Amino acid sequence: PVPKPLIAGNWKMNGMRGSLAQIKEIAASNMLASGKFDALICVPATLLHSAALVTSDTPLKIGAQDCHDRENGAYTGDISAGMIADSLGSHVIIGHSERRTRYREDDALVRSKTIAAHKSGLIAVVCIGETEEERSSGRTLDVLRYQLAGSLPDGATGENTVIAYEPVWAIGTGRTASIADIAEAHRFIRSELCKRFNSEGDRMRILYGGSVKASNADEILHVENVDGALVGGASLTARDFLSICSAY
Ligand code: G3H
Repeated sequence: PVPKPLIAGNWKMNGMRGSLAQIKEIAASNMLASGKFDALICVPATLLHSAALVTSDTPLKIGAQDCHDRENGAYTGDISAGMIADSLGSHVIIGHSERRTRYREDDALVRSKTIAAHKSGLIAVVCIGETEEERSSGRTLDVLRYQLAGSLPDGATGENTVIAYEPVWAIGTGRTASIADIAEAHRFIRSELCKRFNSEGDRMRILYGGSVKASNADEILHVENVDGALVGGASLTARDFLSICSAY
């Protein structure tokens, strides 16, 4: 069974209170009501609860961009998975390359954050992807294999986990991977997931991320084993986000 696609926006550290108007506009779109795909926006933590409240009767899901791996404690500035659930968020991005790089988050930490997310009933969007240097030295598939093995806990299922494949060099650069490279990476990820999780591996959604926009969405989203997209820059306005959704 092919999983239902998911178009996920990652607002990163963009979006202020006024941006709720964009959330409302996305949530009200007829495209989302079609039920052909799921839609999610991962907002900054400060917008989480208000965004979840204004979308509570709509198909649009609201998520966070990171969580701590502990339930609570003296971790100034952090938020737990339980707090995200309490704020009515349904998803959390974990191990985005910006966090892996800037905050040195490794696969073991990503795995324990994913376990924390699952314990709180959240769907984890676990990010993996190679750097430019890893790709040019021919190590892409090895990197993906290690990241998947290290980042995913045994309890991962199609219900509670989404994989986002984001080549680091394609994020925010306007450069997308070629269709052949995307197809190869997604096929490889699917086979690794099925080796470890058997039929559950077929149910996990594998999103592509990295400079997805209206002009390339249609082609990318129709590649085999691409079950949606994780969109940064082109998710910040309702107009851009919905034009990506129109690929479905
Ligand atoms: O999480 C989203 C990705 O980092 C992609 O960002 O669409 O701005 O390249 P981008």
